[in-house]
Amino acid sequence: MSNRPYIVGNWKMHGTRAMLAEARAIDRAAERLIKVEVALAPPSTLIHACRKEANLIGIGAQDCHPADGGAHTGDISAAMLKDAGAGFTIVGHSERRADHGETNVLVKQKAEAAIEAGMGAIVCVGETEEDRDAGKAEATVGEQLKASLPEGEAAAANVTVAYEPVWAIGTGRTPTPEDIAIMHRNIRAQLVEVYGEAGQEIRILYGGSVKPENAVELLSADDVGGALVGGASLTAESFLGIIIAAA
Ligand code: G3P
Repeated sequence: MSNRPYIVGNWKMHGTRAMLAEARAIDRAAERLIKVEVALAPPSTLIHACRKEANLIGIGAQDCHPADGGAHTGDISAAMLKDAGAGFTIVGHSERRADHGETNVLVKQKAEAAIEAGMGAIVCVGETEEDRDAGKAEATVGEQLKASLPEGEAAAANVTVAYEPVWAIGTGRTPTPEDIAIMHRNIRAQLVEVYGEAGQEIRILYGGSVKPENAVELLSADDVGGALVGGASLTAESFLGIIIAAA
């Protein structure tokens, strides 16, 4: 595992070409912050333009269709995203699981399609507030992970896991570093069970209300390999605050 923290901005459904200036500013600053690996996942419409604007940071997608191509109106295959300049894609984000009814099985197929196309896959997992209140957070995440992790020879080398508790996304609420550490320890054990020693090398990111003000604390939790950042990645100023905290 690269021991550089990996800080990924998920722009979700935000951004027109006017936001390319933010990508450019992030890229310029990242050039000086070589201790941190930085990436952005803009909407698909901006992948190509972001790739052209940014030389150093990674550029990825937020989702892909599991099929190579075909009659799937409105969908985008992993190969198309790669062709547009994406080096990775997020899969299984809780917003897609909720808005589009995505199942673990589909998330796994998407991750495998991304890897097959030569990209990395960031597989997202996370419990709802009800799960946590019912003492089922670890079991829920364990089940999601078990059924969503890609199989195949190249899987372990190209997968990243993002632990994003649903109740922490966009709410300003976060788990304690201890709670994050417990979850990441479980995820790590499961990764080793699935991938053997290679599972030790897979990065586990934390996501959910990461801000410049709390980044040091959240990133210092045991086995946090970086962050998947939503709202605070939308401006260079706040995203750089997190990148600097990670450096
Ligand atoms: O994928 C990132 C995410 O869901 C967290 O969003 O806005 O809470 O940082 P946010």
